Formats: sequence, C-alpha cells, structure tokens
Amino acid sequence: MSQNTDFIPFAFPSLDSREEEAVLRVMRSGWLTTGTEALEFEKEFAAYVGSPRTLAVSSATAGLHLAYEAVGVGPGTRIVTSPYTFTATAEAARYLGAEVAFADVGDDGYNIDPSAVEAAVSSPGDRIASVVPVHIAGRPCDMTSILAIAKEAGAAVVEDAAHAFPVSTADGEGKRAFAGTIGDIGVYSFYANKTITTGEGGMVAVRDPVMAKRMSTMRLHGMDREAWDRYTAKRAAWRYAIVDAGYKYNMTDLAAAIGRVQLRKAADFLAKRQRIAAAYDSAFGGLDFITLRSPSSDDALYLYMIRIVPERLSIGRDEYIEELAARGIGTSVHFIPLHVMPYWSSRYGLKPGDFPKALSTFERTISLPIFPDMTDTQIERVIEAVAGIGKEKSLPRGRGLPESVGTVATGTVAGSSHGR
Ligand SMILES: Cc1ncc(COP(=O)(O)O)c(C=O)c1O
Repeated sequence: MSQNTDFIPFAFPSLDSREEEAVLRVMRSGWLTTGTEALEFEKEFAAYVGSPRTLAVSSATAGLHLAYEAVGVGPGTRIVTSPYTFTATAEAARYLGAEVAFADVGDDGYNIDPSAVEAAVSSPGDRIASVVPVHIAGRPCDMTSILAIAKEAGAAVVEDAAHAFPVSTADGEGKRAFAGTIGDIGVYSFYANKTITTGEGGMVAVRDPVMAKRMSTMRLHGMDREAWDRYTAKRAAWRYAIVDAGYKYNMTDLAAAIGRVQLRKAADFLAKRQRIAAAYDSAFGGLDFITLRSPSSDDALYLYMIRIVPERLSIGRDEYIEELAARGIGTSVHFIPLHVMPYWSSRYGLKPGDFPKALSTFERTISLPIFPDMTDTQIERVIEAVAGIGKEKSLPRGRGLPESVGTVATGTVAGSSHGR
C-alpha cells in the first residue's frame, strides 16, 4: 500500500499481499461471516497471549459491552475507570444502565492511579461491579495494586487492553502475563490504527468458562443451541433457542482472515515501533521544552506521546500541532479527558479541575506518528519538525514560570519527574 510521500500520517496500517490473499481466500470460499477463520483466529490469539478462552468480536466497544454484562454491570451498579480514555470505556457501562465513577491518573500522567481507584471504590454510592484499568498507549497499569483493590471491594477487573497488544507485565501473582489476560476479562481492539488491525474488530480474553459462555451467547442475539437441547432430544442443524435479548457482535471471517495474518506479524510490528521510539527518545531526550514518558520495556508502543513544557515555549500545544501540520506531520491528541466532555461533565456535574492530572496531560500532550512502515526519512522529518518548532518558539530562560510549576489555572504541579 502506498503513502502520500509529502504528508506523514499520524497512523498508517501495514498490509501487504498476505492480507490480500487471505481476504481473497475467504471471498472465494463463499463463507463470509463468522466461521472457521474467526474460530482459528480466536485459537491463535488465545495461544499467543496464553488465555484459556477468547472471543472474536466486531469491536472493542462491543467486547467491553459483553464483558461488563458478563461481570454483572447493570442498573444499581458502577464501574470505576479513568477519565483519561476514549469514551467507549465508559459508555459501554451506560448501555447497561450502570454509572461511572472516575479516578484520576497517576504521576506518570497517563495510567489510572491505584490510590485514586481505592478512593473511588470507597466513595458512597452504588456497588462497584467492575474496576476498569486502561493500559494507555500500550503501557500496562499497575495490575498488582488494582487486582488487590478490586478483590477487597468484591469487584471484577475488566482490562481495557484496546492499546495493549502485545505486551506483558507483572500479573499480581509473582509471574508475568500478557496485558488483557490478568483481570477477569480483557478486551483488545483491532480498529484501523491499532497495533494489529482487522479494520474494525476486537478480541475478548476471559478466564471463567461461565462468563465466556454468557458472552458467547450474548455476542449473537442471545442464541443458545445447548439450551435447545434441553427441550428436545433431537436437534436439527437449524434449531436454536433464544435465551436473552442479545447483541450482534460477531466478527466476520473476512476480518478474521486479516487478523490472522496481522497476528503473525505482531512481533515484527512491535520491533519496528521500538526502533522508531528509540530514535525519538534519543532525539528528544535532551530538549527542555518537551518531556517524555520514561522508557519502559513493558510497552506495546501503540502511541508515542510527547508533552510540551508550556513554561519554555511561546506557543501552546494547539499551535504546536498546527506548526507540525504545516510541516506535513500528522498528529493526534490522546485523550480529551471524558470529564470535560459535555455528556460526562453534565451527567456527573464534573469540572475540569476535578481530575487535575488527566487535565494537565491533556493540555500538554501530542501523539506523534509511530507506525511500522515509517521510513528513516519520515522518522527524521518528524524529529526535525518537533525539535525545530520547539527551538524556534523557545522562551529565553527566566522568562517563563519556574520549571517545576505547571498550569496555575488548574492548580496542578506538572514537574518533570516523569520526563527525561
Ligand atoms: C482506550 C480505548 N478503549 C476502547 C476503544 C474502542 O475500540 P473500538 O474502536 O475497537 O471499539 C478505543 C478505541 O480507540 C480506545 O482507545
């Protein structure tokens, strides 16, 4: 697939003749919807991450909906999650009539803070049915602490692993495991810009066979062929029983065939992302107008985020993005926190300063291009543009606020401890 060489997109899928052949194979087979490809994809993904059970779904949003339903999220319950996420994490709880309690991110500015989770689970209100850590940008949350807090609260843990494939971390039992397989349920996304893609799609990893069975039934209209067996000894192939009002969340074989090829490339994709991140780290490490997330080997590197230091610059984050666009560099911002979104702020009466760390990150952060097929020239162009803009717009030392003070308006202290 060819790219426009002048503009460097924020993300670009890595697809070649192997995915094309896989799709053709499915098209020629005459079986387009869920079938053997989806089943094989589930088995191969389960083997990859070491999960006892997986379900291929039409999106991570669908997977979260199924997962919440399976762990008992519903009217009269709440989930606890971070405001620093995409709305899908929280909205799926609202589909089920549950409420959302937000807990701020920690000092790294991105992942949910276990002590904020602890405060949220002890806050007065409806029972907490699930704690939902989001592994932002593919860097796993502190699962050991989160599992302990959730256990104490009697809540299930549903990992939003939309960004977190493939990456392993401490599993809370002294071992390492893939992010997404550590909680009760984990949900991965294969949306077009994710670390592996099926265009739209997702995968659910689940430990408990009863939850797996429930999700499998609800994934396809509440259809249960085993339930039919209970009523009739002889079952015709077309017989099924509807046991609940389910959803239509299955993955097509067309998508699964692409996913199987992408899965085989996942380690190579990660190595390529690591190479780009290493180039960025070494180029940006010494610049005083941006801070970086401290490097970690536990990182799927779905995103590479820089944070500008407003005290050192004559322009703000938005102008920085415009300057990058003018130099042909595509970027994004992860995330506009949910508590400043009209729906979430009005539903829970939230103010921007309620989650100061998430807000502070949002105001400073820029996601740079990091996709496997980036050329050396493209990497170099991003580096030159980011560094060049910052140098051009740098304030002379002493003109800005003291270095350790962040946004006065929100009362936060940004510091630079998580930068390098
Ligand atoms: C953190 C997070 N959770 C869930 C989703 C939803 O994924 P999907 O688009 O596969 O439904 C996204 C999508 O980008 C996301 O970033």
